[in-house]
Amino acid sequence: MEERGQRSNRRLVLVPCPFQGHITPMLNLGSLLHSEGFSIVIAHTNFNHPDPSGFPNFTFASIPDCLPKDVLSSGDAAAIFASLNTNCRGPLRQVLSDMMAKDGATENKISCVIYETLMYCAEAAAHYMKLPSMALRTSSISTQLVFSELPRLQKEGYFPSKDRSSKDPVPGAYPLRCKDLPFFTTDLEPMMQLIATILDIRTSSAILWNTADCLEQQLSDQLQKQYSVPFISLGPLHKVAPASSTSILEEETDCLLWLDKQANDSVIYVSLGSLASMDEGEFAETAWGLANSGQPFLWVVRPGSVRGSEWIELLPGGFKEAIQETGRLVRWAPQKDVLAHRAVGGFWTHCGWNSTLESISEGVPMICRPCFMDQNVNARYLCHVWRVGLELEGDLDQKEIEQAVRRLMVEEEGKEMRLRAVAFKDQIELSIRKGGSSHAAMEELVNLIISL
Ligand code: UDX
Repeated sequence: MEERGQRSNRRLVLVPCPFQGHITPMLNLGSLLHSEGFSIVIAHTNFNHPDPSGFPNFTFASIPDCLPKDVLSSGDAAAIFASLNTNCRGPLRQVLSDMMAKDGATENKISCVIYETLMYCAEAAAHYMKLPSMALRTSSISTQLVFSELPRLQKEGYFPSKDRSSKDPVPGAYPLRCKDLPFFTTDLEPMMQLIATILDIRTSSAILWNTADCLEQQLSDQLQKQYSVPFISLGPLHKVAPASSTSILEEETDCLLWLDKQANDSVIYVSLGSLASMDEGEFAETAWGLANSGQPFLWVVRPGSVRGSEWIELLPGGFKEAIQETGRLVRWAPQKDVLAHRAVGGFWTHCGWNSTLESISEGVPMICRPCFMDQNVNARYLCHVWRVGLELEGDLDQKEIEQAVRRLMVEEEGKEMRLRAVAFKDQIELSIRKGGSSHAAMEELVNLIISL
């Protein structure tokens, strides 16, 4: 086998999708492959570009995306990804072609283009340039399995769910109930088209997953039957290759000092990730539910995430005074460090896949409040299959929030979930060590890249 030290002339071009939950796993993958001796180029859009300062060993190449402001602000995922892929196709080809021309007769060569499946134009660009490619999926395998079933479920009338509170099982999609099927906030048909496109891997040599066998091996075996290229489950990538901060927003690290002053497993951490939002009424119910739970809390209110306000102007009167001793609000937290902190005993999450993996990896049980896309599916697995979360259903109500926090943080039910979460944490630690499944997957990936 080729020695690690001989690989630096092998260049890997990584093409992330420009949203926080997608940039992070790609940069982590870059760190992993760099530690294996490869040279890493990040070909990124101008929009939401990653901060290169934390990655001095990478080369960053910018792709003009010309993403129209009105498309971006529409929040319409199908329109945004259609526009990104259309606009980036040509410039990405140019970036690859310039690199290849510069390499000329030198030893340096692009060995592979690794793209996030939402940046599907990169598969076509790599193929056009006669370069090998691989796809990285940054959501769960369970989600992709459900996505692949959506056309059937649509034909059979189960999708989109007519009743978003229905707990009827979905035939052929265990463990999902009608209410757990993905929920899109925009027009259905363009979303179905987008899903069909990202499922359709044409010329790539493998699909890489940010997941671990201890969570999704059976699902991986099931989905693998639909594909002729190998699946490689490398995750959780943030554990396998802890990278410098990958945050687009500035992290308020002093909340860690506040956590230092709290008792073990006492704090509930609340965050809805990088995209979800709530209205003023939900914000007020959340505020009082947390305050009245009597449990210390660290709450991330991302600027703009409360509709109709800049940040926390819409907090109910008297709330700040009520929580002086028990609560802390921040704009953006160093989430991985927060979840790893001994004081954090629970996570109220929107169940984005990164948050899900980050919480399980630290043995932190969850209150699951999914908002859209893949989050419903993740929530169902968390609560019903892995049994490390409880679901907060229906309209947000302060009494129910208070109860949910107490169930998770102090009652027997929560303690059992914490034990199960800690057992997953241990399994994940084993999987990333030599002899573990994610470690073996990384060796498989390295060998595959060298063989291309
Ligand atoms: C989006 C979708 O919502 C999600 O369902 C999909 O799986 C990925 O893309 P997002 O809302 O960004 O994800 O959630 P998530 O996947 O959980 O990623 C959020 C990332 O932001 C996590 O890595 C988390 O650590 C980070 N984060 C969040 C912070 O660093 N600080 C914060 O305060 C909040």
